Amino acid sequence: MAGNAFPPLAAGLLAHAEHNYLGFHVPGHRQGRGAWPAWRSLLGEAVFALDLTELPGLDNLQDPQGVIREAAAAAAAYFGADETYFLVNGATAGILAVLLATCRPGDRVLLPRNCHQAVIHGLILSGAKPAYLPVYGDSELGLPGMARTEDLRRVWDAVSGEVRLVVLLHPSYYGLAGELEKQVEFAHDRGCAVLVDEAHGAHFHTGVRFPPPALRCGADFVVQGAHKVLGAFTQAAFLHRRGRGGDAGKLRDALRIVQTSSPSYLLLASLDVARQQCQEEEPAWEDTARLGMRLRDEINRIPGLLAPDRELLGVPGVTAFDPARLIVNVGKLGITGFAAAEWLRRRRKILVEMADFQNMLFILGPADLPLAEELLAGLAALAAAFAGCGRGRSRSYPDPLALPIPRQVLTPREAFFSPCEAVRWDAAVGRVAAEVVAPYPPGVPVICPGEEVTPEAVALLADWERAGGVWPGRSRGMIKVVAGS
Ligand SMILES: Cc1ncc(COP(=O)(O)O)c(C=O)c1O
Repeated sequence: MAGNAFPPLAAGLLAHAEHNYLGFHVPGHRQGRGAWPAWRSLLGEAVFALDLTELPGLDNLQDPQGVIREAAAAAAAYFGADETYFLVNGATAGILAVLLATCRPGDRVLLPRNCHQAVIHGLILSGAKPAYLPVYGDSELGLPGMARTEDLRRVWDAVSGEVRLVVLLHPSYYGLAGELEKQVEFAHDRGCAVLVDEAHGAHFHTGVRFPPPALRCGADFVVQGAHKVLGAFTQAAFLHRRGRGGDAGKLRDALRIVQTSSPSYLLLASLDVARQQCQEEEPAWEDTARLGMRLRDEINRIPGLLAPDRELLGVPGVTAFDPARLIVNVGKLGITGFAAAEWLRRRRKILVEMADFQNMLFILGPADLPLAEELLAGLAALAAAFAGCGRGRSRSYPDPLALPIPRQVLTPREAFFSPCEAVRWDAAVGRVAAEVVAPYPPGVPVICPGEEVTPEAVALLADWERAGGVWPGRSRGMIKVVAGS
């Protein structure tokens, strides 16, 4: 194993492995000597040899001074951050850490209603008080949009007192982007820091065919799920800090709380390699963007299918989209996205990233450049199999974004720590919720902790269930509410 071509952390691991130390230290598989033989031969020796820990020369994630620091500095230089932190517990860890580091109990946070549950969980940890930005959808396309600047202004004016942090999403799971730069500027003009959840946008740095990356739009904290779009291992993510990203010491303290003290060096090194690969493959990402646009054109020639492109710019709050996120609407075939995805899986061995009532979502990357024709053939076969079933008309489905934002009775933290009881979800109207209920996809919360459960929310869950939708916890048939509420 020659380490020269590898970036700093990966090279450090290789250099260590080449010493062939007789290691009497964790992990228990002893660099493969103690691994279950069938497992070792399945995964290969290198996996065990490089699954190392805080050994001489390998630095320490909790106080990086050596190869981890070098690797993080290389990432910061590439992405344009003042400082980059490696995360081994997903983008989730970065979101939790920023909320913990910046907010104290009772501080006000503005956040879009279509945020990931990690943001709500960060509110529980920090004790901050949410003010949600409404997000509107396009029922024709069956897609949630993005928070609009006018709503940011209106909600800001409506909350009294200081806002500690604005959280924005960029892009959404569907690859949609809004007026990020304007919204960051709005918050900065009022002296407020901005966290951007760019979990799905680490590749935006590769070129102008993608929406502008959050750091370039001025964000102070940015999380990127490097495992979602780049080549890093699952759970590996980046947190970047710049500008007003405040007290770095506090952020490091928060990261020590939400991250393990035994980080996987395979995950850490995969971040180092993913950054290098992303840099090297910028031209291939440009080809991927072009492929995404060509696929849209070709899919739009298949009767019954719609791969929206310009139409996306008509979705509320949307000003740009990721060409490498391919949305295929099957509404006119008279089937759901769930059914279409299942057909592709069974008949064509094609797996989608996600399906919802009307759409399937495909994530494209440089590795998919040779697969375009297979994907197109699968989609053409799908359309042929269901031709005539839907008479070209889309049905309408329940839309969580159509709900009014409920009254916040307690903070999410107060609700979480209150005595709770579980009640049937359809009997929860008027009670104060103690958990998130977010039908998935698209994962937009219908109920958040501390909110009064409204009849509209319960009616939506009933419609959702009837239409075949799910949400985590539905199988229990219960939701947690604050006792006595
Ligand atoms: C928008 C968004 N933010 C944050 C997360 C959390 O990322 P991770 O799973 O890496 O913790 C996800 C996960 O799906 C997500 O979709």
